[in-house]
Amino acid sequence: MAAAKKKTAPKKPARTTQKGKTAIITGVTGQDGSYLAELLLGKGYQVYGVMRRVSSFGSTGRIDHLLDNPNFHKVYADLDDGPSIDALVAKVKPDEFYNLGAMSHVRVSFEVPRYTIATNTLGVLTALEAIRQHSPHTKFYQASSSEMFGDPGVPVPFNEKTPMIPQSPYGVSKLASYHLVQQYKNGYGLFATTGILFNHESPRRGENFVTKKISLAVARIKKGLQDKLELGNLDAKRDWGWSPEFVEAIYQIMQHDKPDTFVVATGETHTIREFVEEAFKHVGLNWKDYVTFHEKLLRPNEVPKLLGDATKIRKTLGWKPAKKFKDIVREMVDHDLQNL
Ligand code: NAP
Ligand code: GDD
Repeated sequence: MAAAKKKTAPKKPARTTQKGKTAIITGVTGQDGSYLAELLLGKGYQVYGVMRRVSSFGSTGRIDHLLDNPNFHKVYADLDDGPSIDALVAKVKPDEFYNLGAMSHVRVSFEVPRYTIATNTLGVLTALEAIRQHSPHTKFYQASSSEMFGDPGVPVPFNEKTPMIPQSPYGVSKLASYHLVQQYKNGYGLFATTGILFNHESPRRGENFVTKKISLAVARIKKGLQDKLELGNLDAKRDWGWSPEFVEAIYQIMQHDKPDTFVVATGETHTIREFVEEAFKHVGLNWKDYVTFHEKLLRPNEVPKLLGDATKIRKTLGWKPAKKFKDIVREMVDHDLQNL
């Protein structure tokens, strides 16, 4: 007698479409967001790139090449407009939510501290709450920052266990949201994860950050379009990495089997002066002939030295950076020379 056919349960509708996973990215118009969108599209994701709806069109320069991609969905929402984030999460119920949107400029945060906290802290709370209420399966990544360490009074390098004493409203806003992430992970059981990323650069870096300000000025000076470069503190030290590599780390952190915290850094630190010197040297100029100091570019508080210890992510996820300091400087200058 033929064996009775086993009844199979009706298949649940797959959360993951045949075209791949779905991801929301806030900050998609920024440096990291644009690289992350490229990375996820390359892996077959449906990417919902969050743009702010403002009266002007807003800048899409870093993602213009993605706007016609059928897997890229431009959506409007704002971390300062809670209902817009709430509605987006309720509608898309994504597999992954990458929160890269932020008021990301440290010096500006001294001028707009309340706005900084609203976007970088309450905005994170808004996103986490939207996930908890509407889509608890969604994995959440928070863009934490080495600025959270501030000046902790312990020797570098800093790792996941180093105390944090932020020195700016920006640092405070990121540290508060870091703690919210831990709260939603431990208290509500969400897959809420985070990377503490040290500075990372690329030709897509915003022009008001020091590396891009320098590379652009060097290119303009070389072409006779600018005479001087005005800078503030040249003695601060930063651990500078390469944004596309750091975005790969973000992706790997999200794919880990549990939500966790990882420092992402190169393990090398250089002064702003060294960056300036290398950039001018690359085009055959002496920086001392062009760089001037202006105190308006100093900050009320400064983070004097950042150097990260990325042992945990190397050992756990196998991530390590490849691009070296001098290549970062040269590639940024070369890009600006070619694209002025
Ligand atoms: P970025 O280039 O300055 O981009 C910031 C992005 O946030 C932009 O797309 C901006 O949109 C968006 N944004 C600002 N306010 C928003 C709001 N209220 N709602 C929604 N989106 C908003 O920054 P990034 O260098 O790519 O950095 C990405 C994230 O990593 C940030 O959270 C930053 O704080 C953090 N981080 C960066 C570094 C680094 O070295 N780059 C290191 C550690 C952590 P608009 O285009 O509309 O302004
Ligand atoms: N922006 C800027 N402009 N910085 C200057 C200038 C100038 O003209 N002159 C000197 N600096 C010094 C700053 O005082 C600081 O010590 C250093 O250059 C780096 O400044 P930024 O490039 O603005 O970066 P940041 O280190 O303050 O913040 C960046 O890195 C953080 C991670 O450590 C941002 O990307 C943050 O969003 C990020 O979290």
